[in-house]
Amino acid sequence: MDNLQARYEDLKRQIHFHNYRYHVLDAPVISDGEYDRLLAELKQIESDHPDWISPDSPTQRAGAAPADRFEKVRHPAPILSLANAFGAADARAWYERVRKLDDRVERTKFVVEPKIDGLSVVLHYRDGLFVQGATRGDGEVGEDITSNLRTIKAIPLRIPVERSEQRTETGQPSLFSNFLLPNYLVVRGEVFIPIADFEALNKKLEEAGEKTYLNPRNTAAGSLRQLDPKLTAQRPLTLLVYQIVHAEGGEIPASQWETLETLRALGFPVTDIARRFDDINSAIAYTESWGDKRSSLDYEADGMVIKIDDLGLAADLGFVGKDPRGAIAFKFPALEVTTTLLDINVEVGRTGVLTPKAVLEPVEINGVIVKNATLHNFDYIAEKDIRIGDRVLVKRAGEVIPYVIGPVTDVRNGSERPFIPPTTCPACGQPVEHFEGEVAWYCVNAACPEQLVRNVEHYVSRGAMDIVGLGIKIVEQLIAEGLVKDVADLYALTKEQLLELEGFADKKADNLLASIAESKNRPLNRLITALGIHGVGEVAAGDLARHFGNLDALVDATDADLQSIEGFGPNTAAAIVDWFSRPANRNLLGKLKAAGVWPVVQVSETSEQSSGKLSGMTFVVTGTLAGFSREGIKEFIESHGGKVTDSVSKKTSYLVLGENPGSKLDKARSLGVPVIDEAALRQLAGQG
Ligand code: IVH
Repeated sequence: MDNLQARYEDLKRQIHFHNYRYHVLDAPVISDGEYDRLLAELKQIESDHPDWISPDSPTQRAGAAPADRFEKVRHPAPILSLANAFGAADARAWYERVRKLDDRVERTKFVVEPKIDGLSVVLHYRDGLFVQGATRGDGEVGEDITSNLRTIKAIPLRIPVERSEQRTETGQPSLFSNFLLPNYLVVRGEVFIPIADFEALNKKLEEAGEKTYLNPRNTAAGSLRQLDPKLTAQRPLTLLVYQIVHAEGGEIPASQWETLETLRALGFPVTDIARRFDDINSAIAYTESWGDKRSSLDYEADGMVIKIDDLGLAADLGFVGKDPRGAIAFKFPALEVTTTLLDINVEVGRTGVLTPKAVLEPVEINGVIVKNATLHNFDYIAEKDIRIGDRVLVKRAGEVIPYVIGPVTDVRNGSERPFIPPTTCPACGQPVEHFEGEVAWYCVNAACPEQLVRNVEHYVSRGAMDIVGLGIKIVEQLIAEGLVKDVADLYALTKEQLLELEGFADKKADNLLASIAESKNRPLNRLITALGIHGVGEVAAGDLARHFGNLDALVDATDADLQSIEGFGPNTAAAIVDWFSRPANRNLLGKLKAAGVWPVVQVSETSEQSSGKLSGMTFVVTGTLAGFSREGIKEFIESHGGKVTDSVSKKTSYLVLGENPGSKLDKARSLGVPVIDEAALRQLAGQG
């Protein structure tokens, strides 16, 4: 193998490893920038040597062409369901039933796992390669959704096959010295969308005036059944794997517990809250303990599954219909309740989108009093015929914002009133507008006070200018006092002004001013995101920054210029031209430029820069810094040509020390790595 080919293989291995750290373990060990550089190098090699590309390359996840329909796949063994238990008594009754059938039940252990509210999928690996993936279907035959599943980064494209292979593609130590790995392995897992990702997705859609999704499960189901894998790739799908359905040419574990361990060692994502117990009572106690804690999980779980650990025994117990006797789903109480819809409030978002919010008669759902819920948009209210005064069904699952499922029409008494969407903005009274092809209605008044609050909130947020310490309460104060009339006014704030505000003392004012000043270093893509142009999220902002390089060029961009960028359609182009043509926005840009907020190139393009003052230096950060967030410090260092890594080594140039440092400080001291504070770092970067 020549050097380049060896490098290619090494890059594939490294990228798989970092995917695994990020998507399976949720513990990345390199920065996004470093990851992007590895991927860019791999892509370059593949474009020079297309014949080298193998199906397990990390670039091959989202390449497949759209399909006309899904082919059918017969499962190698039935994909079974589970019988339900509602409470401890039901679970004990199940135990008694199976104990009577087979006295080995008295001696077996029990494994308790979360019951993830997602979609069952079946994944096939031949000689270590992911070759096919299917939906559950009717349990006998499912649909071939391989191309869609390939886009899910938590699904390994390759798993180890030989005993001699000491490490998986992900660098996990091997667990397979005890048995011969099968060359054909079929596993089962549950695909889902984590709650936080679901909320973020909906927020983005809401801001873009598009229809929001109802809940993570339906969204995951819809995403898996897209004919175009590119659409699936855009949804934050992930999975957890829990069963070996079939294996050939090797051995597999005899217990459920070892199955989970083996799957984990093969590089599959496996739940970390599964536990094994010697007796059924402990298993039930553990299960019940998750009933109260379910909202701390980052996905929706509708219960726990109690499984007989001995898989031979479980198989011998057989099944009833499609439910194996060897396991039971212990369901948590339902998260849906009915209550009265007292009123519908209309809120104004940052882009002026008007969103209806339900005001509910307070009701408890799983220990939380719910008073408000999402109603999505005006069309949703009309389609579901939701009326003020209705009894409505409300769902609150996990940390998902509660939402109104629909009215209970049978109990109407005639006093309910249909909701009439407002024709003027509830905050400023200006007429509302509707854009062709969107569901949302907008307040387009740039001076709308409610929009200003949301606008500033967005401008200072993490994905945008990341101004630490500027929370919503302070934003409201600044606007109420007339100190901030647009986001550029933030840069004109003085210490004296801040000290007059309630809750501000010396240090807090200094810190806030420092982080406002520091935000001037944000790259162009962040500033474009921060401007809050209709339809321009983080991805589009990155494209614009790369294409135009500076705001002066973007300001003068024509409709045709914008539409020449891939992914920019007429609506987005028109919205951008419209934004830059408005006198209030032009004035804002003038103020930003005068304040020195005028970045010209994007960080990812300059991160290789050798001219920065920190060029050639590697930094590790520990503890909390007063003037930077975690992302902010990284960007600051990178924008000055430096590199940030996670762990201290002899190669580390400096450890940047914040409050409450971790063990990195001891390590730096033991290796003789110099330790500096925030001020010294600014000086090094020439910003002191
Ligand atoms: S075991 C014989 N384990 O729940 C194996 N199922 O209501 C039977 N589910 O169809 C399934 N998490 O789609 C099992 N940890 C877990 C699960 C799980 C979610 C789903 C699965 C099943 C449904 C039954």
